[in-house]
Amino acid sequence: MRITYYSADMDAASWIPGLQAALPGATVTLWEPGAPQADYAVVWKPPQQLLDEQTSLKAIFNTGAGVDALMQLRLPAGVPVIRLDDAGMSVQMAEYVCHAVIRHFRELDGYESDMAMGKWSFRKPRSRVDYPVGVLGLGVLGERVAKSVAQFDFPVNGWSQSPKTIAGVQSFHGAAQLDAFLAASRIVVCLLPLTPDTENILNAQRLAQIRPGGYVINVARGAHVVDADLLAAIDGGHLAGATLDVFRVEPLPQGHAFWNHPKITITPHTSARTLRSESIAQIARKIAALQNGQTVAGRVDAARGY
Ligand code: NAP
Ligand code: GLV
Repeated sequence: MRITYYSADMDAASWIPGLQAALPGATVTLWEPGAPQADYAVVWKPPQQLLDEQTSLKAIFNTGAGVDALMQLRLPAGVPVIRLDDAGMSVQMAEYVCHAVIRHFRELDGYESDMAMGKWSFRKPRSRVDYPVGVLGLGVLGERVAKSVAQFDFPVNGWSQSPKTIAGVQSFHGAAQLDAFLAASRIVVCLLPLTPDTENILNAQRLAQIRPGGYVINVARGAHVVDADLLAAIDGGHLAGATLDVFRVEPLPQGHAFWNHPKITITPHTSARTLRSESIAQIARKIAALQNGQTVAGRVDAARGY
């Protein structure tokens, strides 16, 4: 069995030996134009040329959870695309989002600047019932995040394509229930896949539906948020601020208004990293399962785009 590996930004020098060790019977090599035909491709943001040249693939493994970059390409008909299914990401996402929710709710930025100025003063405690948290997307990551936030006794709402039953989470689903979800939420966390249906979902009209004093946490993809609309909602006072881990253009261009906005906290697309050893172990298990004719989790539905 031959495996071809390509990543636009991960470290081939450690992934290739890692995959090789996990699949000792296979030959794992770095893809380059004209590379030999492989049975499986393990990729992140591959060029179209790889897909066009590799005509014998039995499956394409995406070394991330989001497949939006792959979905922009012409995919070979009938070849399954399999994404990372947690692989250590959900706990990272839960800790990042809980941190952002609590930092905002407990006004920790305000306390930090007070203390830096030598000021010892207290703010009026806030009530959790006034800060319902809404999670857009209740998949592998969103469900873990919603349950984790609920552990801190915040009211939690969730929105997904299909209805869900998750303890401690009020479930909304489908386009028809998005308005009600937003109106019921004050802190809105985006954990949707980027698809034609979800691109620009957090635009001026939707941001205005979040409860006044609202807060946005985007940990999915930058193109879910209309940047200018978010800035206007914050500067106009409807929203209190945002925590953003993902951006339309990454790295975030120098000079972008998000860099120095006093009410926006940014991080460099780091809320849930691909963990090499967990991911390699998962991909190796799935390749073995496919070789045995079994089905595997994380298979992408190209028609849905996720
Ligand atoms: P997932 O398991 O596929 O979950 C996606 C969720 O979104 C599902 O609940 C799905 O509903 C819902 N959804 C999709 N389209 C919808 C629509 N049009 N209307 C309503 N709900 C919709 O994905 P995941 O593994 O949780 O990952 C989510 C995203 O997080 C990824 O696509 C990626 O972009 C992002 N991500 C970011 C980072 C980072 O470091 N910032 C790391 C990893 C992933 P159903 O359940 O009903 O299908
Ligand atoms: C990271 O953003 C991923 O999709 O895994």
